[in-house]
Amino acid sequence: MSPFPAHLLSMDDLDAEDIAEVLRVADSFVEVGRRANPKVPTLRGRTVATLFFEDSTRTRMSFETAAKRMSADVLSFAAGSSSVKKGESLRDTIETIEAIGIDSVIIRHGSSGVPAQVARWVDHCSVINAGDGWHQHPTQALLDLYTVRQAFGGGDVGLARFEGLQVVIVGDIRHSRVARSQITAYAALGAQVTLVAPATLLPPSLEGWPVVTVTHDLDKVLPKADVVSLLRVQAERGSGEFVPTLREYTAGYGLTVRRAAALHPDAVILHPGPIVRGVEIASEVAELPAALITEQVSNGVAIRMAVLFLLLGQVPVGGAHRV
Ligand code: CP
Repeated sequence: MSPFPAHLLSMDDLDAEDIAEVLRVADSFVEVGRRANPKVPTLRGRTVATLFFEDSTRTRMSFETAAKRMSADVLSFAAGSSSVKKGESLRDTIETIEAIGIDSVIIRHGSSGVPAQVARWVDHCSVINAGDGWHQHPTQALLDLYTVRQAFGGGDVGLARFEGLQVVIVGDIRHSRVARSQITAYAALGAQVTLVAPATLLPPSLEGWPVVTVTHDLDKVLPKADVVSLLRVQAERGSGEFVPTLREYTAGYGLTVRRAAALHPDAVILHPGPIVRGVEIASEVAELPAALITEQVSNGVAIRMAVLFLLLGQVPVGGAHRV
């Protein structure tokens, strides 16, 4: 088995074996999370910094919880109150952070490619992409896989179910780093991915993407779906201009109560959050047992613990960074 990558920048960095390894390691951390004191000493002496240049609730809190549960010291960088406001460049910010002695930088940025650029600048820090522009959000895809595997039996049984699994991803694919990460992840495990969106919310080209089916007819694909993964219309990336009205969007692409009734009994519904009730998902549907939205958030902590462990936990404190 090849060593785990030095940084986690994209789902393209991970093959099926790496993914299986992350999910297996996450199983141990799910068990840790159930303990009365859900803390292990694995990253004692390590320092992890979260650098979020874009808003976040789940990803930031999840990474910070994961690092603290592993006994790492956690620094939370807020761009709005940092020297970035005085004109300090990203490169100088990163050099400053590395000089302080940080072991891992978890970065979210509105521009695609920033985490990869940061990875080229650092000498000994591991860089984790917590979402960059429209590009990638790899830990979101990993926690989605974990949640689906858990729903279909967990362990190797659940993993085997991905072969031929019918995954339907609905919504704003064009602007979605989550969709790009999910498609690569599901394809790596042999799932069949169908994208459902209005033409305006699809990317101009799917060249270079894994093989996917594309349709505009959600009603037609729902009865065969094993997994329905919904995406938000991302107003902060201008998506609102790509649909006539949100009401029309919901009429064509929202998972309404009527549409949810067409799903087969074992199908599961995912959403990376934040959800916009009444737009991409009806409030009643979000509360169904098949909707695993809170399970995704819970599993995110264990997945991020696993990623931190695989990047940092196997290198001695003060040891050389693997490249
Ligand atoms: N799913 C997700 O990335 O949520 P946040 O924007 O709240 O981190």
